[in-house]
Amino acid sequence: MISMPTLKINDQEVTVEQGTTVLKAAAETGVEIPTFCYHPGLSAPANCRMCLVEIDGGRGPQLMPACYTQAGEGMDVKTDSPTTKDAQKSVLEFILLNHPVDCPICDQAGECTLQDHYFDYSAQPSRLRHTKVHKPKVKVLGPNIVLDAERCILCTRCVRFCDEVTETHELRVTQRGDHSEITTFPGLDLDNKYSLCTADICPVGALTSRGFRFKARVWNNKRTKSVCDQCARNCSTFVDTLRNDVKRVSPRTNEEVNSWWACDEGRTAFKKYQEGRYLKGVISHEGTTNELAPSDSYHRLGSQLSQTVEAHGGEAVGILIHPSWSNEDIFVAAQFAMEAGFSLYVGGRATDGYEDNILIRGDKNANRYGMNLILEAMGVKHGGVDSLAAAIEAGTIRTLLILDGEHALPESVITSIGQVEKVIALAAWQTPILDAAHVIAPTRLVYERGGTFVNFEGHIQRFHKTQMHDVNILSPWHALSTIARAGGWDMQYDRISDVFAGMAEMVPRFAGLAYQELPDDGVTTVQAASTGAV
Ligand code: SF4
Ligand code: SF4
Ligand code: SF4
Ligand code: FES
Repeated sequence: MISMPTLKINDQEVTVEQGTTVLKAAAETGVEIPTFCYHPGLSAPANCRMCLVEIDGGRGPQLMPACYTQAGEGMDVKTDSPTTKDAQKSVLEFILLNHPVDCPICDQAGECTLQDHYFDYSAQPSRLRHTKVHKPKVKVLGPNIVLDAERCILCTRCVRFCDEVTETHELRVTQRGDHSEITTFPGLDLDNKYSLCTADICPVGALTSRGFRFKARVWNNKRTKSVCDQCARNCSTFVDTLRNDVKRVSPRTNEEVNSWWACDEGRTAFKKYQEGRYLKGVISHEGTTNELAPSDSYHRLGSQLSQTVEAHGGEAVGILIHPSWSNEDIFVAAQFAMEAGFSLYVGGRATDGYEDNILIRGDKNANRYGMNLILEAMGVKHGGVDSLAAAIEAGTIRTLLILDGEHALPESVITSIGQVEKVIALAAWQTPILDAAHVIAPTRLVYERGGTFVNFEGHIQRFHKTQMHDVNILSPWHALSTIARAGGWDMQYDRISDVFAGMAEMVPRFAGLAYQELPDDGVTTVQAASTGAV
């Protein structure tokens, strides 16, 4: 057997690994073969026939599916011959025979593989003179997914996803011939933790997201590369916004991190930040609250911190940091704490313990690994929320600075926080633990700022600003730097690339990295002897 077969794709020779399909061999020569049912993350049933190409393997030219046929020594593949083109047209005509072509009201329009292939490989009018077969137009399959059965081309990608990736087996094809349609097994909903991925991989507008449906035409959206901050996996994502509102979060292919997938919870998390947003500073006194301009609130926090340090020393200030904040935010917070002698405590989101062997991690904090790298490299002593409660009970903490309100704290710790003389906070949106705060300064949501996270495997990725914001509301690292200056400390960060450069000098695992040069897919930081990471 020849281990590296050489074949010809449109007269161009290419040598590939044994077992490579003709589809991939063609891609290596820059030739694209159209597909529907093929997906790189799933098995290949070769059922749609869209990828038929003329292949002469020594017994004369035959039409064979490129997604399934393995490249062989001496094969002669023609992807642009009249026979191949005729096959592509015929397959498209067959698929479109009963297709409703209701593109103007179809959510998939603008990102539809059938639309694209029709214009690229067919563009012929329908010859059907009979009534098309009608099927259910709105069939709710689960909490997040709705099916338009008329648009389904029966590629079975969704069925294979539930069989092979989530292994939850909710979907099947029922009936025969042109009455075939996708449905759930009796008594089952399409309700797995990755159900929205079925809408992503559906090549047409048959499966759509109930949350995104009819919310926007995709060509009007602005798409930005981002990273999910809802667990320690850090899935690479696209965030789609329309008129500055987040409309959809979808997975961005990254083989090192999340392959092609992302979970429903991470993708829909943006909704929880849409209410209770702080756009001003808030000052509460004896039951009354007043608003402050953001810049005034930063100054108020700075002077509160300096007053406490003057009166009681740096250790009288406790600072509660969040392991979902970016490396830059945590680095500036840690540097501030070191310079001023504050006591540092780590809070964070609740860890519900659920994780699977697909993507979801039990740690619901995005950047615990990065945080631990930074604190370890800087030699910053820190404790957990129990140590914070103990310090409050001992009367050590006179002022507590809470960074981000999304901390899951035990009731006893919340009660302890209520006893602190001055509670001040830097947060983007309202949460119950901020009820105890006397002064709150606003900061940007994760969608309104850039930064980097390190995932549980040590992979660092950069996320980008996806939404505009009030320019007076600063990112956490910038707000902290401003607060420090207002309190009389020397902290001069005004550009995130400078923060990253300072961090790269101090944290060995970031050495040699530059903020502006981090690739879209991120890089795996070199494994050090001790990460201290969870
Ligand atoms: S699935 Fe594609 S071709 Fe069919 S109606 Fe929707 S946009 Fe049009
Ligand atoms: S619903 Fe979509 S993914 Fe599922 S079989 Fe039909 S076309 Fe394919
Ligand atoms: S697995 Fe984690 S990082 Fe990925 S989308 Fe879900 S919550 Fe976000
Ligand atoms: S993509 Fe090859 S048969 Fe469907």
